[in-house]
Amino acid sequence: MSIVKEHLGRRSLRRHARKRIARRRLLRFFKLVVETAAGQIFAKSLIYFSKPLVQEKSSRMKCNNILEAIGTTPLIRLNRLAKDSAGEVYVKADYLNPGGSVKDRIGLWMINEAERKGLLKPGGTIIEGTSGNTGMGLALVAVTRGYKVVFTINDKQSREKVDLLKAFGAEVIVCPTAVEPEDPRSYYSVAKKLAREIPNSYYPNQYENPMNPEAHYQTTGPEIWKDSEGQITHFVCGMGTGGTISGVGKYLKEQNPKVRIIGVDPVGSLYYEFVKTGKVGKALTYVVEGIGEDFFPPTMNLKIIDDVLQVNDEECFVWARRLAKQEGIFTGGSGGGCISGALRVAKESKKDDMIVAFLPDSGSRYISKVYNDGWMREHGYVEAEVALSAADVIRAKSRNGKKRDLIVVGPHQTVFHALHTMQQQDISQLPVFEENNSIGAVYEDQILNLALQGKDLRKLVIREVMGKPLPLVPSNAPIERVTHILSHEGPAVFVEMPGGKLEVLTKFDLMDTIAALVEQKR
Ligand SMILES: Cc1ncc(COP(=O)(O)O)c(C=O)c1O
Repeated sequence: MSIVKEHLGRRSLRRHARKRIARRRLLRFFKLVVETAAGQIFAKSLIYFSKPLVQEKSSRMKCNNILEAIGTTPLIRLNRLAKDSAGEVYVKADYLNPGGSVKDRIGLWMINEAERKGLLKPGGTIIEGTSGNTGMGLALVAVTRGYKVVFTINDKQSREKVDLLKAFGAEVIVCPTAVEPEDPRSYYSVAKKLAREIPNSYYPNQYENPMNPEAHYQTTGPEIWKDSEGQITHFVCGMGTGGTISGVGKYLKEQNPKVRIIGVDPVGSLYYEFVKTGKVGKALTYVVEGIGEDFFPPTMNLKIIDDVLQVNDEECFVWARRLAKQEGIFTGGSGGGCISGALRVAKESKKDDMIVAFLPDSGSRYISKVYNDGWMREHGYVEAEVALSAADVIRAKSRNGKKRDLIVVGPHQTVFHALHTMQQQDISQLPVFEENNSIGAVYEDQILNLALQGKDLRKLVIREVMGKPLPLVPSNAPIERVTHILSHEGPAVFVEMPGGKLEVLTKFDLMDTIAALVEQKR
């Protein structure tokens, strides 16, 4: 062996020995680390930090500008509202984004992409048709990077949203809600027209922009997966443009195809019926903002969705209010609808289920609506303290032996006949039916008035004098809603019981039931 080789051999032996010693020292150190309590924490943090970071961003505590504060919103457990369910319910509180909504994320992603592609040049104008939140996200980007902004918004949106956008220097054009999307007056059409006419302008169009779902695929989905430590079993989310549910849904399904993706859609929107039956129904107006659509935007990937739950305006608002009062979590009506849906899922949940409900925007946007008692009352939305429904009153009536078959009259019968029937049956109103349809109603005091005016009740037919049919409420209508109708619209309502049978509920029935409840409580 040459001297050089021998020397190299000894050197490599020494290197090996040094490495062995270092390895042994390292092992001894790890043993020590694992054996002590502090060491265990250290070991855990080593494992934690060895995981790849989901989102590259600067520390939340020190941002270079407001845009760096977007995202990384918390998952928060519901401790009161979901206490009776087997699984756990968490909310993804995206209302804690700096602009107050989930839409900060897509505002940033759409503009980043436009700049990258050269579609938006310095000093340019951003134009968007927005229900307010996307506008806010875009406005944050525009202020930070020196763009002008023009927004079209529909007249259903709250006043606060318009004022908020203006506070960030935006120009806001309010357009009518009650027109088709293709109508030149709709906020979609006006935005498109402005984008054609204003030079050096960019129209992000959240309804068609692939960066909308992409932002959620890249940020919201990974955050939820990471913070749930891969335990999420159900993701419940309102459906608007579909960006959130499609992007988050895709990411979660890629991590675990068993995660169920559940959409929440308001009554009047097209999604629910389409997913359930494959039919395109008729779009109707509804009050809750931000969710539901009257068309199918390309940003919505319905294939990723396992189920859709339908919610009505009232439950959206009532659950938003309960969330604030019972959990200190302050979201808008669409978030309330999402909670209502998530709690339905939670009712059927199993022990290890982890349901995550998505909260898109802040309650502060709706102080003059959802969080205003007068507005809630005016619209007949009620937050029941005692969870009593119209059907409960009908059942109580039945238990007390006071329920009877529906007594009705025909429009061709005389008013005298109606009066005679009321006296015989000891009732104060009579529904008028023609071919099994409720077409009107007559009332005792109305007939007395006619008699006092000297009208001949034997000659007068009911069709000539009858009033509007009794208002119809579903069997699950909260009792406060029935009370509101009884004091504003008339002394009785029809309750549509499960199976379709109609029952009459009067002010008297209500008082009777409430009196019985008070007795029971004593
Ligand atoms: C208040 C609110 N909720 C829910 C959504 C729906 O989110 P997405 O458009 O991602 O489906 C929006 C969208 O504008 C919204 O503003």
